[in-house]
Formats: sequence, C-alpha cells, structure tokens
Amino acid sequence: MLRKAVIPAAGLGTRFLPVTRSVPKELLPILDRPMLQYVVAEAAEAGVEEVIVITSRGKEGIADYFRGRPELEERLADDAELLERVRSGTELAEVSFVIQQEPLGLGHAVLTAREAVGDETFAVILPDDIIAHTPGTLSQMLAAIAGRGDDAAAVAVERLPWDVVHNYGVVDAETVGAGLHRVKGLVEKPAPGTAPSNLSIVGRYILPPRVFDCLERTPPGAKGEIQLTDGLALLMADGPLYACEFEGVRYDGGNPMGLLRASLEHALAREDTRTAAAELVRRLAAELDAGDGG
Ligand code: UTP
Repeated sequence: MLRKAVIPAAGLGTRFLPVTRSVPKELLPILDRPMLQYVVAEAAEAGVEEVIVITSRGKEGIADYFRGRPELEERLADDAELLERVRSGTELAEVSFVIQQEPLGLGHAVLTAREAVGDETFAVILPDDIIAHTPGTLSQMLAAIAGRGDDAAAVAVERLPWDVVHNYGVVDAETVGAGLHRVKGLVEKPAPGTAPSNLSIVGRYILPPRVFDCLERTPPGAKGEIQLTDGLALLMADGPLYACEFEGVRYDGGNPMGLLRASLEHALAREDTRTAAAELVRRLAAELDAGDGG
C-alpha cells in the first residue's frame, strides 16, 4: 500500500529559460493543464493520498496553484464545467510543500522530504516525464512488483534505440518476468557502445524509507549535486531493485520541443481538441510539402 508520493520541483529549469525566470517549469502546460497536475493525477490514480512537492524560493507559484479559489468559484458558480476545471487540480490529493534550500540535485531534493515521508515506502515522480496511459505508470509498477516483498524498490524503464542510450541513465539488469527486470547496476550516460542494456531510466520510482540513509551516504557528484541514481546504487546493496517497463508513451516535458510534442499529441488525442488539432497538423504538413514552410 503506497500512501505518499514526492514530486521534486525545485530545479532551475535552465532549458526553459527565459520563461523559467518567473514561471516554474512544472507549471508549464500541456494544452491547458500544468505538467504538475498530470503527475499528481497519476499518483492519485495509484492510490496515493498525500503528495509532497519539493519547491524552492522563487517558485511560490507552485503552492499558489494548489490554493483554493473561493472568489473565482463564486463567479463561475453557474458554469459547472468551468467550476470542475478550477477545482480539478486541488481535489486529487492532499498536497504539502517542502523547500529545498539549494538545487543540489535530485537525490538531495528527495532527501529534503525525509521528515514528511517518515518511515514508509513512497513514490517519487518527476513532473517533466509525462506518460500518457490508463492505468498510469505508477499503478503499473505497483502491480508489477506486488508480491516481491515490502522492501522491494522499483524504477520505471523504457526501451530506447541502441544508438541513443548513451544520452540517458541505463540499468544493467536480469529479466525476471514480463517487462520486469532485477537491477544489477546503474550507469549514467554510458560511453557510446558500452551500455549494458537499452533500458533507460524514466522518472518514476518506488522507494523504501531506507533510501534516505543511502542518500545521506551518497557523495556529491559533478557540480556538487547528489544524484538519485547514485543513491539507488547503494540501496541495491541490501535489497532488491526492480526495473519495470510500462505501457504508454513518455514525453520529455523538460525541454521546449518535448513539451510541444506532448501538447500536440494530447490535442490530437483529446476529444474536444482533436478536430482542430488534426486540421492544423494537416495544413502545416501540406505547407511543408509544398515547400512554403521550409
Ligand atoms: P532536471 O534534471 O530536469 O533539472 O530535474 P531542472 O533544473 O528542472 O532543469 P534543467 O536541466 O536546468 O533544464 C528533474 C526534476 O527534478 C527536480 C526538477 O525540478 C525537475 O522536476 N529537481 C532537480 C529538484 O527538485 N532539485 C534539484 O536540485 C534538481
């Protein structure tokens, strides 16, 4: 039973400058919903009741997003659909916030949630990895490791073409079930041609509380950052770590083109926007074919 999820959202978001000067990356929308809301929804769907968002000074907009809006709700009282949309972000789970004083890496961000998580297994979800599927990735992971012991940790993995894996974190793993692998090692950006597998790590984790001790012991790597993958390498020493493949398309919302692709494909999939989005794509494709767009 998984009750808590940590969503790290305290990074600098440099790939989205200049907008991230004042708008937190995690609030950038896929169509009309912030990326953050998609991952809170994924956590809630997996049974999570408490979401702990890691933020930083200057990203107050994140906590603000989850505040009630009584005046706005009063104004929209006659429009059930808009009211539902205003409330949609805040009713999914109980959301609390912890400040990471300095952006010292993902591992450090998770460590700042130690007190808020306490002594129970929890999930970590990165809000810039958006995965479109029902059931959500976290639910799929829970199902995949069910019966493998309370102490089992898990990370989501995606099979990538071999010629791009050197840009990602990958696992060295032994297959133990359908789409399920027992991890033997983790390599961050392996030198081309040396990757132990083409299973790349995606931002979904299920972690037992002893990961906090591992992160305390994790030495900072390049740029003084504490990496979560280094913490996982320590975690693996005294308990199983599983890598779970998942159903669904993963979008990298951490860079502008990835977010654009996510928005476009969501618009093509969503009933209320499908027709207009398809028309737009067809027109642009025709213009490109005619040589006007290049
Ligand atoms: P990224 O690696 O995408 O870093 O973090 P970033 O700072 O957000 O973006 P770039 O690379 O500068 O463009 C993945 C997730 O981890 C969080 C980020 O907010 C993001 O959701 N994070 C990262 C933290 O919370 N704290 C950190 O110190 C680093």
